[in-house]
Amino acid sequence: MGTALVVKLAVLLLSWMRCSTLSLAASEFTRKDFPEDFVFGAGTSAFQYEGAWAEDGKTASIWDTFTHEGWTGGNADVASNGYHKYKDDIKLMNDIGLEGYRLSISWPRLLPSGRRPVNAKGVEYYNNVIDELVKYGIQPHLTMHHLDVPQVLQDEYGGWLSPKVIDDFKELADVCFEEFGDRVSYWTTINEPNINTLASFDYGFFPPRRCSPPYGVNCTGGNSTVEPYIVMHNSLLAHSAVVELYRTKYQAVQKGKIGINVYTLWFKPLTNSSEDAMATQRALDFVYGWIFNPLLFGDYPEAMKKSAGSKIPSFTKSQSLQVKGSYDFIGINYYFALFVANDPTVYETGLRDASEDMFAKFTAYKDVTPVKRILPPNNITNDFESFQEMLLYIKNNYGNPPIYIQENGYGLGVVDTMNDVGRISYLGGFIGSILDAIRNGSDLRGYFVWAFVDVYELLSVYTARFGLYHVNFDSNELERAPKLSAHWYKNFLKHGSSIVIANVAEQSAATYASQ
Ligand SMILES: *[C@@H]1O[C@H](CO)[C@@H](O)[C@H](O)[C@H]1NC(C)=O
Ligand SMILES: *[C@@H]1O[C@H](CO)[C@@H](O)[C@H](O)[C@H]1NC(C)=O
Ligand SMILES: *[C@@H]1O[C@H](CO)[C@@H](O)[C@H](O)[C@H]1NC(C)=O
Ligand SMILES: *[C@@H]1O[C@H](CO)[C@@H](O)[C@H](O)[C@H]1NC(C)=O
Ligand SMILES: *[C@@H]1O[C@H](CO)[C@@H](O)[C@H](O)[C@H]1NC(C)=O
Repeated sequence: MGTALVVKLAVLLLSWMRCSTLSLAASEFTRKDFPEDFVFGAGTSAFQYEGAWAEDGKTASIWDTFTHEGWTGGNADVASNGYHKYKDDIKLMNDIGLEGYRLSISWPRLLPSGRRPVNAKGVEYYNNVIDELVKYGIQPHLTMHHLDVPQVLQDEYGGWLSPKVIDDFKELADVCFEEFGDRVSYWTTINEPNINTLASFDYGFFPPRRCSPPYGVNCTGGNSTVEPYIVMHNSLLAHSAVVELYRTKYQAVQKGKIGINVYTLWFKPLTNSSEDAMATQRALDFVYGWIFNPLLFGDYPEAMKKSAGSKIPSFTKSQSLQVKGSYDFIGINYYFALFVANDPTVYETGLRDASEDMFAKFTAYKDVTPVKRILPPNNITNDFESFQEMLLYIKNNYGNPPIYIQENGYGLGVVDTMNDVGRISYLGGFIGSILDAIRNGSDLRGYFVWAFVDVYELLSVYTARFGLYHVNFDSNELERAPKLSAHWYKNFLKHGSSIVIANVAEQSAATYASQ
């Protein structure tokens, strides 16, 4: 009896101690503090990693066309040459103890004409990659589409602008499930549809470069006030059609999970005024709610409908039913936070673009440079508090869905160095914040560093390097070399080393030096 009471008290005391540390970041932890089935990995995407842009039957994607036209001052014709180096890379993944690898399928490599017939060489490449991963026990997490629309479909009907894309995307998915579904258990349909809408169809700085004055320059036509809404609508319908296909035809046998990816950044009101608080909520509704609300509740947020009016397409009853609940998990890409202020001036303009419908001005967090658009500030701060607020917001407003952090990384505005202690403290802080959130009830299932190796970066070509492994882009061999962060991640994943938040960088430098 007595002992039982003591044990009970000890348990209470322990759980109280745990609770009392919730408001603080986990300060020291190891891999074992996370659930065993939580997955730690790293990622790349097809266009940014594979190269071999015209090999073995692959046709151009809109990103090939865009880069060949010189808009970025570089191209991904070779990129990290993953098409030829994947075997060595997967060996490196195994060396550092990666538990999962997030990659995407190149639609024009698998289906060069945008739809069947299937390119046997494309199937062979992805089969080889998947087999190699499985051989080492590394979970493949496959994204079906990461921005690289086949140019033929862009030419034929405007890509994501046309509802015709829904059937073709479904065909791509069908081929993926059929060819790879026996070994792949984690499927993401579309990467960052909320960035595709704005970057490609509102501001027009991503292909297919559509925008209308004054919202962008050098566009090839477009309409910034309506096209972003149409593109998101088609994306949600295509996504949910694929989930339905998986659920009716494959899931019972293949037993995998399927979801979509959302680009998130956290928003904080610039001042304590109620106007800025409301502007912040509108920004959240536009950036998160644009995808989360249809998935959770079957419709766009009221704030969006009120602001965009008839520009926002409506779901029919059956579409709404199809979209609602069309996820087993949500993938999140998170990098930074912004301040938000109310912007009353845009009320005066005529037809607003989709970003003006937010009536909000954005300012880089902990920085004074105003940024009108949702773009990364060139100085990404190690802002873990914002990330935790974001996770809490999803937990409390969207029914605590299973979440994979599919991208998080450090690279823009960073001087490249092999001794990347800045990256280590950034990644360590985010991993610690995830542990805090799990302990506080968030349903977090995995974390993928962007990126496994240095790749072609969409915003900065080869100047920003996010990789755990350095790639020598000046040499034809594109040699890989582990940065300090690769050793640090390996110690955490493979050797059970703890991460100590207070001195995460010094600690790992010391660990590395002692090896
Ligand atoms: C933990 O979750 C509760 C309920 O959602 C919330 O009120 C609290 O602020 C959270 N604590 C932390 C540290 O995130
Ligand atoms: C638009 O095109 C003109 C002429 O080609 C070029 O000088 C200018 O830099 C372009 N602007 C942008 C933002 O790409
Ligand atoms: C964009 O579409 C709207 C609604 O159809 C229309 O009123 C507007 O004139 C269009 N703008 C351009 C630049 O074509
Ligand atoms: C907002 O209010 C809080 C507490 O009332 C205060 O600590 C904080 O400095 C205020 N922030 C701004 C930006 O005014
Ligand atoms: C980022 O901002 C911090 C604080 O404002 C500053 O000390 C640092 O030099 C900046 N880093 C870069 C790369 O601009």
